[in-house]
Amino acid sequence: MSERPGAGPAQPDVPSGGSAGAKLAALREQAAGCHACPLYAHASQTVFGEGPPSASVVMLGEQPGDMEDRQGHPFVGPAGRVLDRALEAAGIERDDVYVSNVVKHFKWERAGKVRLHKKPNAGEIRACRPWWEAELAVVRPRVVCCLGATAAQAVFGPKFRVTRDRGVFFDLPGPDLFGSARPPAGTEAIATIHPSAVLRAPSETRDEVFDGLVADLETVAERLRRG
Ligand code: URA
Repeated sequence: MSERPGAGPAQPDVPSGGSAGAKLAALREQAAGCHACPLYAHASQTVFGEGPPSASVVMLGEQPGDMEDRQGHPFVGPAGRVLDRALEAAGIERDDVYVSNVVKHFKWERAGKVRLHKKPNAGEIRACRPWWEAELAVVRPRVVCCLGATAAQAVFGPKFRVTRDRGVFFDLPGPDLFGSARPPAGTEAIATIHPSAVLRAPSETRDEVFDGLVADLETVAERLRRG
């Protein structure tokens, strides 16, 4: 693991033996001390991914929000509640989902009493990448679902446009991704909007935006049913 902020991408050490749960626990412990980028200095804690180690789906968001930063768990705030509702509406068992983020520390700026979300930059996203790659390599999901542009571009590259390319399956890009610990061939990736887009939508279109999220997740559900 890099100890100097900005000294380079994180360097997770995935244990070679043990169960997937034990490997994730080891990664979580390592990530708790990650200083690969400067974000750790202003966040309360690292928010690592959570869910069953054998999950069929990994949902990848951008970064923890204010609530996640305080509680130390991903998607426990308002966006997480939208995600839970959308998963239920799409018929995806929450117990079959591992949730994580492409950046593991909350980046924020103060606006009076509130801590406002700030988008992570390319260097921060790059520094954190080995963590989610390691999570995917251990969980080996059938489907990776990117929530919003930051996650989608981290996975598919900067030319990816959620507005244009959402709701369609792609192979996980390689070959540098995952090194020797790639998820099995056949792992597919898809992107949809970030659940916070539902919260930001004007009230007249909010239901429609939510239905669009559910429709994309139904595509995921359908793929899982087909095995
Ligand atoms: N938004 C995200 O992208 N991730 C979280 O964990 C919470 C909000």
